[in-house]
Amino acid sequence: MDFELSEEQRAIRDLAREFAQKEIAPIAAQIDESGEFPYETVKKMGELGLMGIEVPPEYGGAGLDTLSYVLAIEEIAKVCASHAVIMSVNNSLYCYGINQFGTEEQKQKFLVPCASGKKIGAYSLTEPQSGSDAGNMRVRAIRQGEEYVINGRKSWVTSGPVADYIVLFAATQPELKHRGTACFIVDTTLPGFARGKKEPKLGIRASATCECTYENYRLPAFHRIGNEGDGFKIAMTVLDAGRIGIAAQSLGIAEAAYAASVAYAKEREAFGQKIAEFQAIQWMLADMAMRIEAARLLIYNAAMKKTNHEKFTREAAMAKLFASETAMWVTTKAIQIHGGAGYSKELPVERYFRDAKITEIYEGTSEIQRLVIARAALKGR
Ligand code: CAA
Repeated sequence: MDFELSEEQRAIRDLAREFAQKEIAPIAAQIDESGEFPYETVKKMGELGLMGIEVPPEYGGAGLDTLSYVLAIEEIAKVCASHAVIMSVNNSLYCYGINQFGTEEQKQKFLVPCASGKKIGAYSLTEPQSGSDAGNMRVRAIRQGEEYVINGRKSWVTSGPVADYIVLFAATQPELKHRGTACFIVDTTLPGFARGKKEPKLGIRASATCECTYENYRLPAFHRIGNEGDGFKIAMTVLDAGRIGIAAQSLGIAEAAYAASVAYAKEREAFGQKIAEFQAIQWMLADMAMRIEAARLLIYNAAMKKTNHEKFTREAAMAKLFASETAMWVTTKAIQIHGGAGYSKELPVERYFRDAKITEIYEGTSEIQRLVIARAALKGR
């Protein structure tokens, strides 16, 4: 594997790093505390081309490859995991699906505004009774002439409270289970759409999440992406891409916690010496560094496969699983190294720890990633 970065890849990484340090770092702790959505900095990320990194320029994006996308998310996540997930959902879960499956007209109408960062996109698959069992959806879309009438409730919609458009999955023929589903682009200004209360979350608190309800919500048939029956496959294809983004977010969180731990170990003294002199601390730092490096290789490998148009379902699942478990492990050890100081909100490691947890849950739990990897081994998927 050749991971020598191209000039373009270094440029987007440096741009994301500089923006994160200058504009996001000063507000990261404050928006975590208040839970307010960072409209201003998200708008600026759009202006910098960070909201549609892989989307071709003719559809409002930056036209870069998947490794560029990963490098940018990693830099943003080192500073603020909330900004990283807002970015990941818009890039992968929203833009990627429309770019892959939308018609020219649909791309002009729904992709251009979100890839250019002027509008915000979300993705809505989960329902109150179906998370991991995503094919078992109850939201119903019934065709009436040139429209669909949609009814039901979706939950855990990341960016739901602020989204202009949402990629929605609904059942058109429930008796066919996952084969009777379709994908739609919801315009959140149309009547019949309502947002529920914002979820009060443990981590990624500045990323807004809510339920969305549809009550006789009428949508022109033009808003359907792909054919009736394609919904579940589009949802899964899009999640494969999304998992690379969440893996990169996890990597960024882990790297931030590791850097803080190295700095603290070199500064804090106990028993008359710096704690970095103790083997107990050195072993933790060594394991952190090794796991981070392994996560990075898995993520970059998945990104290269996607860029080369190879199948990457298994590689994305491995990258997401390993990187998210690394983020949780590293942030736990980071608090241990910091001791009492790490348990306090005065330092960012407790935020990294809270932010890391969701990476083992959303876009497919660790258990679901293991299932995907096992199916690849057993069924050749
Ligand atoms: N790409 C394309 N097609 C795929 C696919 C993939 N990666 N995975 C499965 N499929 C296809 C299969 O080939 C199969 O096709 P046929 O109908 O032609 O046979 C069909 O989909 C059904 O596949 P399975 O039999 O494997 O389906 P299953 O019901 O056993 O479920 C699953 C598979 C992997 C468990 C899936 O349901 C899954 O990924 N669940 C987790 C859902 C998830 O990640 N939710 C996250 C919500 S979004 C979110 O978190 C966003 C956010 O807030 C940030």
